[in-house]
Amino acid sequence: MLETEGLQLLETALNRLGQDSRQLPAFHTETDHERIGDILNDVADRLKGDFPYPHPLYAGQMMKPPHPVARLAYSLTQWINPNNHSPDGGRTSSALEREAVADIAGMFGWEIHQGHLCSSGTIANLEALWIAARLRPGKTLLASGLAHYTHSRISRLLGVTFDPVPVDANGKMELKAVQRRVERGDVGTLVVTLGTTGTGSLDPLPELLALKQSHDLRIHVDAAYGGYFTLVKGMKPGQREIFDALKHVDSIVIDPHKHGLQPYGCSCVLFRDPDIGPLYLHESPYTYPGSDQPLLGEISLECSRPGAAAVALWATQKLLPLHRGGEFSRGLACSMHAAQKLYDRLQGHPGYLTIFPPELDIVVWAPRGHSASSISQQSQQLLRSAAEENLYLSLVDLPASLVSAHWPEVTFDQNSVTCLRSCLMKPEHLDWGDAIWNILHRARG
Ligand SMILES: Cc1ncc(COP(=O)(O)O)c(C=O)c1O
Repeated sequence: MLETEGLQLLETALNRLGQDSRQLPAFHTETDHERIGDILNDVADRLKGDFPYPHPLYAGQMMKPPHPVARLAYSLTQWINPNNHSPDGGRTSSALEREAVADIAGMFGWEIHQGHLCSSGTIANLEALWIAARLRPGKTLLASGLAHYTHSRISRLLGVTFDPVPVDANGKMELKAVQRRVERGDVGTLVVTLGTTGTGSLDPLPELLALKQSHDLRIHVDAAYGGYFTLVKGMKPGQREIFDALKHVDSIVIDPHKHGLQPYGCSCVLFRDPDIGPLYLHESPYTYPGSDQPLLGEISLECSRPGAAAVALWATQKLLPLHRGGEFSRGLACSMHAAQKLYDRLQGHPGYLTIFPPELDIVVWAPRGHSASSISQQSQQLLRSAAEENLYLSLVDLPASLVSAHWPEVTFDQNSVTCLRSCLMKPEHLDWGDAIWNILHRARG
């Protein structure tokens, strides 16, 4: 069931990599292949206990398998294992990182930028908010109540006051609340999420940008999950304006390890102002002697970073360029379409409650019930019974204030309600819509 054809390509490429023109003397490393084989088989047996993430019936958390080219390029690079802290550690992989990151910046309409890869969306957001805090010292950071939980933790870490803003009935930052809050004059940075983790909602970026000049705000966009959707042609009304507004923000985070077909360990932080580099400045007597332009290690918080992640990303973007309406973006469009179709089915079925249509490819719904507590219980029960039928979903707790407007007949006997959540991130989810629906139906009983 797992793709293995690529292993032959890997062997060919490895032989090529091994033909080093420097003609170094041969050397040999003792390796006990028999024991390694035994251990690998043990590992394979243990991994069978995981959920089947690459399969289309895995429709739960925000997970997507890496593209074979990414897996192979990553593996190939492992044989030399470069470190992109500085060109000393990864000459080619550092150059490929700069190219791959420039292509991502170009996708957002940025011809010049400063940026690099990071190990996770959390670290990438930490870097962006660290720079923001240095440029707006002592000021408060605002984010939506549905922003990723790490923003409040990062703020604590940075010693910055964090203030969550309420969301409207569509899970978007409430504009009036932001306006009222920034008028108090103590807000330095606004975190705008394009694609919230729970519901995939897009905050109203064009309207929020209008506050930037009048209140001297920095706008940071957490597009860790949603950023690549800017490439989709024929979006829903209003979405193109939101993604096009990314051109004017101060910093962006996007995670190639979410929708960019990369193995975990690949996020990207981008700054529109290329001159933020000096804010990162630090000395390193080991790695920077004699450099005349900022090295990747001088403009990133982390020291060692995997050159293999940069190579994998570069190779993927070579195969599937970041073109609007191109092959890569058509895969994202399939996911959006799959989510809309699932939503339409759920909405038309008397046994389910929906909240709002999916903006990207996350669908949230619940079994119909009279109270928030019974709906929550039924959601948990359905999660389990669907898994028994090999359909893997996830759960999300949503505040009653968000859901109650959509479910007037439900009694809210608790402050939140647990719903089912499905991230339909694989293009194959479009073709598996009937199978997913039929299993859900069976599991509901
Ligand atoms: C919108 C958003 N931001 C940040 C993160 C954190 O990213 P990571 O898990 O790569 O640290 C996530 C993770 O799901 C996310 O959805």
